[in-house]
Amino acid sequence: MSRIDSLIAAMTLTEKLGQLTMATADSAITGAVMTLDLESGIASGEIGNVINLFGAERVHAMQRRALENTRLRIPLLFGFDVIHGHRTIFPIPLGEAALFDPRLWEASAREAAREAAADGIHLTFAPMLDVTRDPRWGRIAEGPGEDAFVAQMMARAKVNGFQGTGLADTASLAACAKHYCAYGAVTAGRDYAPTEISVRSLSEVYLPPFQAAVAAGVATIMPAFTDIAGVPMSAHRALLTDYLRGQLGFKGVLISDYNAIAELINHGVAADLAEAAALSLKAGIDMDMMANAYRAGLPVALDRGLVTMADIDAAVGRVLTLKEQLGLFDNPYGRGGPESATSLAARRQQAREIASGSIVLLKNDKDALPLADGRLALIGPLADAPGEMRGCWSAAGIAADCVSVLAGLRFALPHQSIRYAEGVDIDSADESRIAAAAALCDDADTIVLCLGEAANMSGEACSRAHPGLPGKQNALVDAVLARAKGKKVIAILFSGRPLVVPQLAARADALVAAWAPGSEAGNALADILTGHAAPSGRTPVSWPRAVGQIPIYFGERPSGRPANPEDHYTSKYLDEDNAPLFPFGHGLSYGDIAYSSLAVTPALAREGDSFAVSVMLTNRGPRAITETVFLFVRDKVASVTRPLLELKDFQRKALQPGESGRLRFALPASALKFLDANMRPVFEPGEIEILVGPSADRARLLVQTVYLA
Ligand code: BGC
Repeated sequence: MSRIDSLIAAMTLTEKLGQLTMATADSAITGAVMTLDLESGIASGEIGNVINLFGAERVHAMQRRALENTRLRIPLLFGFDVIHGHRTIFPIPLGEAALFDPRLWEASAREAAREAAADGIHLTFAPMLDVTRDPRWGRIAEGPGEDAFVAQMMARAKVNGFQGTGLADTASLAACAKHYCAYGAVTAGRDYAPTEISVRSLSEVYLPPFQAAVAAGVATIMPAFTDIAGVPMSAHRALLTDYLRGQLGFKGVLISDYNAIAELINHGVAADLAEAAALSLKAGIDMDMMANAYRAGLPVALDRGLVTMADIDAAVGRVLTLKEQLGLFDNPYGRGGPESATSLAARRQQAREIASGSIVLLKNDKDALPLADGRLALIGPLADAPGEMRGCWSAAGIAADCVSVLAGLRFALPHQSIRYAEGVDIDSADESRIAAAAALCDDADTIVLCLGEAANMSGEACSRAHPGLPGKQNALVDAVLARAKGKKVIAILFSGRPLVVPQLAARADALVAAWAPGSEAGNALADILTGHAAPSGRTPVSWPRAVGQIPIYFGERPSGRPANPEDHYTSKYLDEDNAPLFPFGHGLSYGDIAYSSLAVTPALAREGDSFAVSVMLTNRGPRAITETVFLFVRDKVASVTRPLLELKDFQRKALQPGESGRLRFALPASALKFLDANMRPVFEPGEIEILVGPSADRARLLVQTVYLA
């Protein structure tokens, strides 16, 4: 008999349910706290998994309690939300998405895993793979943005990064793909609200990132809090068991979200905890995070005949298998121990490079950037706010370890005059300091405004109906622009979402999306602002001009009445453009890039063929740059309407001043398959446009038509 089978054979019901229970220690609590005391629950075997405890000593002490006091000496599993770094904080995932660089996505996850594993952690609740087209939803900050292809690439890179060479490696973490599924489609961007999506968008947009995570060997998956068309994900047997386990062959552990099993009662599909627990277990969820539903509810559900002991044993088997794969039985203290000073310094350097690569230059008129010599006025509530640079889910990162913009610029420009004023709070009604802050413009040559959201204004439970500049920041902008009298004004936005800032975008000379850049924020920004590094980030989401445009995304399907300003009865607004303020993929550099001679062969392809796509890039500017190139397709006539643009690939290319180079993509013709009206994959003959260029703005794409046979 295997170790796991003999353990299961020896376990009492209480011990089994303990293995299916995850309880919280003290930090980062996002919901109700369980009544059972953690210490005694561990000693009695009623709690087998812990969330929110880190630090090798504390983790090992708790592990010792479990191993020394319990009958069967089963090691505890420690999970933590290591979302974008652990102690060293990398940019928030939406910011990292702007890198469009799977190699760096993987590298930051690898470093986060190493650092968290050194703190005793075994499992991270990441990557978050929720595609969303709604910037009102605060959790847009945690994910890959609006596109399913980007999300798939990120899924693979992050799972590989966290899990490294395998779970047995004590420098790796088990990853958790979340939140399965379609959480990003919550109604009106309101967190935890219902989702109402079609089977097509489920299949084409929301499932593929999870398919990619499963294909990459993700160890665990977390169902979303929400329902899809009436079936809460915590009870969704068709999507959890039939699809994930049955069709995709997922063999890992399904972990509920925080208290989500008990919330089936609020959803209105369970009358009590026993019914809720039975629904979740039957649907396929192995581990109950913080609902106390399995521990308290499953014994009752067993008595009522709602579940069987075999159902419980199957879940216990999967949890114990994960612990075994992580090496916990043989080496329970394997994770946790000091790291060398060199690895910490190298990690900081990497965090700086990744942060500078995540910064998106949205606008740069009058060559406002890079900064010219001269006196600087640094104004705004985010200019000297190190803690805010961490963004949401900052794990073990502490404010004192983060570099503010002020500190970064002072360090980079030691001989330049830099005067600083906060002006306003991030979000308060106080306007009393605005005039004094604006007065700094008089003695400055260039004004840098640091504006945006606080770290806790995005992430979970942070939906915003007015996703613009909060508090009195617009009043500060008005006062500064009035006083600047034609001097260059650069606005840097810190945010966990694209902000709705059309006025600011029109009036500032330069506009920079910095997201939440993490520990090295100020140094990374200084690198970009001074021209030490060229901006290369591209926005992974469309920036709306108005909240009324939401949801807004490049992959819309065509209308029967496409917008035509000359024709009233077409698809448009009376009072706003259809186009976003900045399209997906947009991001300037300090160079001047020209695209030419798009070539695609063969002109006619069958399903097994591959298109060779190439394009010439020339850097006509005076600086070295890195250009991100997007490859889209458009199927103009098909049996069902196809999106106006579909992203199929992207690549980055570094170019020295004056350098030209050809960039090549291999696009399998089979990537043009789609789901027909009966949701069956088909490869249909006909005309396809291949579009290559710097963003999803069609006017900027080179186009070549090819045919499928
Ligand atoms: C969030 C998850 C997170 C969990 C544990 C929940 O509230 O939805 O994303 O992993 O808490 O902290």
